[in-house]
Amino acid sequence: MNKDSLSKIEKLIESFFYNEDELNKNVIKASNEAIRNGGKRLRPLIMFETYKAISGDEYSEEIIAPFLAAIEMIHTFSLIHDDLPAMDNDRLRRGKPTTWVSYGEDMAILAGDMLSVQAFEIISKKMQETDDFNILKRMSRAMYTLARATGAFGMIGGQCVDVEYSGKKMTEEVMKYIYALKTGALLAASFVVGGILAGANETEVGLLKKAGSYVGEAFQIRDDYLDIVADEKELGKPTHSDEKNLKITYVNIVGIDESLRRIVSLSENAKKCLSEVRGDMSSVVEIIDMMVNRTS
Ligand code: IPE
Ligand code: IPE
Ligand code: MG
Ligand code: MG
Ligand code: MG
Repeated sequence: MNKDSLSKIEKLIESFFYNEDELNKNVIKASNEAIRNGGKRLRPLIMFETYKAISGDEYSEEIIAPFLAAIEMIHTFSLIHDDLPAMDNDRLRRGKPTTWVSYGEDMAILAGDMLSVQAFEIISKKMQETDDFNILKRMSRAMYTLARATGAFGMIGGQCVDVEYSGKKMTEEVMKYIYALKTGALLAASFVVGGILAGANETEVGLLKKAGSYVGEAFQIRDDYLDIVADEKELGKPTHSDEKNLKITYVNIVGIDESLRRIVSLSENAKKCLSEVRGDMSSVVEIIDMMVNRTS
């Protein structure tokens, strides 16, 4: 199941790429390449499987497609900027040199900026081509959800606090805030956007949001754990980046064993929420299991 969805998602994302044939081609090349370089595509996978499970007969690839591409564009923008010298100063991403190493800091900043706007451009373009008022309402709510999860109250806000607290003492409360925003928000949006577009009711949207928040926290704890114990080649990005940047992580505060226990209990909580949502969520549960046990 995931394999078919994955290759479909890869194709759909590429279909929204800009051509690389004008004077501005460098920023487009840098962005397209950063996305093409791979990555697990977890956010679009979650969105797609959630959408498929809930939508039933209403399934429409055309409606979900720009959202699948958009969330991967926003995620890739977050990674390009996260790796910049002014942020985590990392040189390897998805097993390749980071965008700023290949294209320069200027182009990497602009590539991230470009992707953050391209995401909303492709959604709003599809909205203009949609006549069904009910679907249009769902699309506008889904677009708002994605925007909130990206901006000051989502990934960007979380990255801001993450950077400001580097090298400083931090309470567990602040750390949870950072995780919820920098990682949890986009992951929760993956579930919620899939649900909204599929016509989920308010209770289900609430459950999807909760599930996504649990998964987001578990995912970032796993990321911090891997930063300490993983093999750099397998991980595709530098290990010990957090230590280098004096980041306080879950693992520093509660230790490795408790961190691993929390990953399990958070993912169990997420699955409990999903069991109350209509449709066959087994593919989504499979993705969660893959995420929390990942080694890359
Ligand atoms: C890495 O996300 C950044 C975090 C939010 C921890 P992923 O592990 O999903 O990165 P890719 O997309 O697979 O490269
Ligand atoms: C950043 O967390 C999450 C983002 C919003 C990009 P990290 O800085 O730990 O992510 P990696 O480890 O570089 O992927
Ligand atoms: Mg970072
Ligand atoms: Mg980083
Ligand atoms: Mg990390």
